[in-house]
Amino acid sequence: MSKLELKNLNKTYNPKVVPVKDISLDVSEGEFLTLLGPSGCGKSTTLRLIAGLEQPTRGEIRIGDRNVTYLRPGDRDIAMVFQSYALYPHMTVYENMASSLKIRKISSAEINRLVTEVAESLGLTELVDHKPGKLSGGQRQRVALGRALVRQPAVFLLDEPLSNLDALLREKVRGELKQLFASQKAPVVYVTHDQTEAMTLSTKIAVLNNGSVQQLDPPHLIYTRPANQFVAGFVGSPQINLLVLKCQGNFAMLGNFPVPLPNLPTMPPEIVLGIRPEHVSFAEGTEAGETTIKGEVYLVENLGMQNLVSVRVKGLESVTVRALQPGDKNWNSSIVELIFPPRLIHWFDVKTGDRLPDF
Ligand SMILES: Nc1ncnc2c1ncn2[C@@H]1O[C@H](COP(=O)(O)OP(=O)(O)O)[C@@H](O)[C@H]1O
Ligand SMILES: [Mg+2]
Repeated sequence: MSKLELKNLNKTYNPKVVPVKDISLDVSEGEFLTLLGPSGCGKSTTLRLIAGLEQPTRGEIRIGDRNVTYLRPGDRDIAMVFQSYALYPHMTVYENMASSLKIRKISSAEINRLVTEVAESLGLTELVDHKPGKLSGGQRQRVALGRALVRQPAVFLLDEPLSNLDALLREKVRGELKQLFASQKAPVVYVTHDQTEAMTLSTKIAVLNNGSVQQLDPPHLIYTRPANQFVAGFVGSPQINLLVLKCQGNFAMLGNFPVPLPNLPTMPPEIVLGIRPEHVSFAEGTEAGETTIKGEVYLVENLGMQNLVSVRVKGLESVTVRALQPGDKNWNSSIVELIFPPRLIHWFDVKTGDRLPDF
């Protein structure tokens, strides 16, 4: 059993820079945890603490039944893949993959077996005698992965491993990564600022902001039940609509349309309504009426499989609607009626950003 546990982990560089604030989480065998957040939120620092490349100011790191907080990196049984690949340029692919095994005094027959097997699974068999300088970005990335895989470590750490690949290749390698780690038992901690990678690869996601975990949940809950306004706004493309509405009694005013509010101890003067672009729809003919919100289309972006339609509603910021209608529909300057289904609305506290109970 090689469960990874972080307990109240903190890292302070100076009183002004606290990149890791009280992070507690665990990753069990077979789990793939992604640390997701904007640049500078403390993802790499957290990973470096786990690897032992930095010392925590406070807190504990455990792998299985070992407290590894103060162990040297080499004694933690962790393999790390960096964005920069960090391959030895003078060594062949084979030697790069075998290097960490040689230090551990494993027999050359066993090294050969492990490297050959992993090279095969990564499609690198033909390239084992090449030096990294001869390889493409995607191939180098696979060698870096291979070097981690041959070690069969207790924990895998990956820091933005796809960031240096171009968009098409990134998509392909993302799929390969998912298949590769599906057959690995050791816990994986994966760092990215890319929500698609986080959503597609993970069994659970920790969304970070300013060094703190905002939400720790499986991908579908991060998307369908964001814990606060930050998570709602960070995950989802096109971005969720977040509208600050005035409250009147038990209703929030969406333009002239009163939306019933959830039960709150006291009614605030304002509230944030969140609704994803795919959950707003256009009322057609007979549906239009009291339960719809009138607006004017001012921008249509055709993305092939969908149109993003930006609608200006009187008294509000713009509302983005994802429409799957044929691209040739003439939206420009047309008045539309929008439907906001109450059960698909997220409510957030205007001051704290926290999620409020559903209606
Ligand atoms: N060695 C260091 N000394 C001082 N500040 C640092 C150091 N390393 C990182 N930081 C700061 O810590 C914060 C988090 O950095 P990092 O963990 O690299 O973020 P991320 O990987 O999420 O982009 C940033 O504000 C960064 O400038
Ligand atoms: Mg980073």
